[in-house]
This record gives sequence, C-alpha cells and structure tokens, in this order.
Amino acid sequence: MTAIDTAALKPPEALDVARVRADFPILDLEVSGKPLVFLDNAASSQMPRPVIDRIVQYQTAEHANIHRAVHYLSEKATAEYEAARRKIQRFINAGEEREVIYTSGTTDGINLVAHGYGRKFIGEGDEIILTTLEHHSNIVPWQMLAQEKGAKIRVVPINDRGEVDLDEYRRLFSAHTKLVGVTHVSNALGTINPVKGMIAFAHGHGVPVLVDGAQAVPHLGVDVQDLDCDFYAFSGHKLCGPTGIGILYGKAAMLEKMQPFKGGGDMILSVTFEKTTYNTIPHKFEAGTPPIMPAIALGAAVDYLSGVGMERIAAHETDLLDYATQSVNRLPGVRIIGTAERKAAVLSFAVEGVHPHDVGTLLNEEGVAIRTGHHCAQPVMQRFKVPATCRASFAFYNKMEEVDALVAAISKVQKVFG
Ligand SMILES: Cc1ncc(COP(=O)(O)O)c(C=O)c1O
Repeated sequence: MTAIDTAALKPPEALDVARVRADFPILDLEVSGKPLVFLDNAASSQMPRPVIDRIVQYQTAEHANIHRAVHYLSEKATAEYEAARRKIQRFINAGEEREVIYTSGTTDGINLVAHGYGRKFIGEGDEIILTTLEHHSNIVPWQMLAQEKGAKIRVVPINDRGEVDLDEYRRLFSAHTKLVGVTHVSNALGTINPVKGMIAFAHGHGVPVLVDGAQAVPHLGVDVQDLDCDFYAFSGHKLCGPTGIGILYGKAAMLEKMQPFKGGGDMILSVTFEKTTYNTIPHKFEAGTPPIMPAIALGAAVDYLSGVGMERIAAHETDLLDYATQSVNRLPGVRIIGTAERKAAVLSFAVEGVHPHDVGTLLNEEGVAIRTGHHCAQPVMQRFKVPATCRASFAFYNKMEEVDALVAAISKVQKVFG
C-alpha cells in the first residue's frame, strides 16, 4: 500500500512576516521621523535582498549584450536571460517558454497586442469589449486602434460594489466582437474579476481575451493555462522586481499569427533591402537590446516569491485586507469605495470633508505612504462620482500593526480637519 503523504494535506504554515521583512532593507527607513509604513504596493512593490544581490551579481560578473557574441560574458548573460524566461514560464504555468515575451511592463504588453494582433485582425465596424474597471493602459491603446480602424469600444458596466455586470457582459457579444480586454484585479478598487468564466464565455463566441494581470500576479498565484487566456500582461516592478521589465504571455498559436510590434535587431532571421524574414517567437517581439538585467532580476523575484509561497502570500494579504476593512469601517466619516465580494490587497476610501491629496499629505507626516488620485482609472472614479480616492494597497511584507498605524493616521487627519 502506498503511504499517504500527510504533510501534503496540511494547509501551508502562516507567513512569518518578521522574517520576510528582514529581507527588505527599505522597510527599515524612517519617514517624517516615523517608521515607514509602505502601503503603496499597487503602484510599485519593494525589492528583497536576494533580488538586489542578483542585480549586483549580474552587473559585477555577468553583463554583456545577449544573443550576439561567442565570448564568455555574452554567453553567460544570454543563458541567464533565457533561464529567467523559464522561471517566469513556470511561475505562471505557461505551456512553453516561447509563449513568454519580455516587455517593458504591462502597458508595453498591451500595446504589443493592440499593434501585433489588433492592427492585423480588427477592422472597421468590429468591436472590442472592455470593462469599466480597466486601467488607462487597457483603454487607451484600444481607443487608438479603434480610431485608426473605425472599430468600436463596448464597455461592461460595474455595480455599486465595483463588480462587473456579467449579464451585461454576455449581452455585449455579437458577430462584430473581435477581442475582450479585462483586468484580473482592479488597481483602483481591488475587485477580483471572474476572468476564467469570462474567458470561457468569450471563447464560446470565438473571441480571444487579453487579461491585464498587473495587480493579480503579485497576489493570487496565476495559472495561464488554467485560465485559458489568450494573452496575459504584467509588470516586474509590482512583483518585487525592477522597473523596465514586464511579461506578455501569449498562446503560441496567437503569437505566431501576429505581426511584430517593433522592428530592429534580434527580431529578424534575415534582412535585405527587399525583404525581412522575422525571427521565431518570442524573439519576433523582442526587438533591440532588451532589458537584460531587469529580466534576470525578475527571474530572481519569482524565485523569491515562490520560496515564500504564493498561497501563504495570498492568505496573509487576505487577513490584512479583512482587518483593514473592518478597522476603517469603524471610523465614522470614512467610506470604503469598492466593496466587491472578492477583493485583493487594495483598500480605496474617502474621508468626508477632506480632499484625498490632503489625506495623503498628512498621512505622509505619520510615515504612512498611500496613493491618492484617480489611479489611472478615471472611468472608475466617474462611476463612483469622485475625483479621486485614497488607496492603501498591501503586500505580503505588511504587518497588522501597519494597518493600525494607517487607521490612527486617518483619525488624526479627521481631528485636524474636524
Ligand atoms: C491594473 C493595471 N494595469 C496596468 C498597469 C500599468 O502598469 P505599468 O505602468 O507597469 O505598465 C497598472 C499599473 O498601475 C495596473 O495597476
């Protein structure tokens, strides 16, 4: 009889937050004479020591341009760059490494699809379905394409909790629908969209789906094969990696039939003045010298996150969000905007009678870093009839005491303005 592995049946051990925090040197900073409470992780997360060390290692012992020379450093850098691609492939469970394209970020990945896929396959009278929850980077590229081609944008509304109206989503499909663009997690409200079901429905109509995963990959543990999305874009700097690097996952069959976005070195097999033959995927979409160090650092970042454990990360962040929601809800005069049943890591709120920018400025005096503004999601602000919100966004290295610091700082703002 085969022995049952009982260890595998146990839920993962809770995250050791103190241990994790020791990996992040920046968290020891003081701001305004107070310990930094960094709650702006949805904009950009912080970098742990193993990723910083990996950058130093690369710059001091591995750097050269890739894919272009036979000398030691070039071969080393090429091998590490491609090894990082395989790490990222495993992290999001892409079927093949050639389905993982390095970009400069989510915005770049979405623009790549708008140009590479949209300009080839979307024409006059065609329709693109987006949701009200989209970040500007999943709106503007499609608007530019629609203007150029004479196509239309159709928008799925959201309810008062900030959840997409799925009945309306289904109703928007027609023979003209050519693409769906949907955010996995809303950066402004934290809503987790039911993207798997939305993708299945779109596929039932033969429509491909691009998922903006900028706010999902750092928090949820994403499996692109399970989602069955056609494209999935995300950014390294929200994932404990550096700026200037992102990933576009695309199904090989989709990437194969797309046109390149940018032309130049590395994306070709041969060039004459009469004709260029493009390289195979993923290189067809990686023109010019890529962000080599950031790609390798992103590989180290996903190694780090896998080591901490995405399940543990998600569980701790859920606890943080629940505690923050309960605590902020107890403050009279503070309204949480975005109360979806399924949310991740984001708490948007308004303090009665105080402009969000004043809230942000006063919180900074307490060492608490939040973001205030429209969060590059103006349609969400318009839906809730506010010019801006205050947004606290959590990462796995945040501790419960930091939620207390946030709440105390908001109370102080209310006293100042009271
Ligand atoms: C949901 C979402 N999409 C796209 C982006 C754009 O990411 P980047 O600026 O890294 O391209 C962001 C960044 O805040 C985001 O939150």
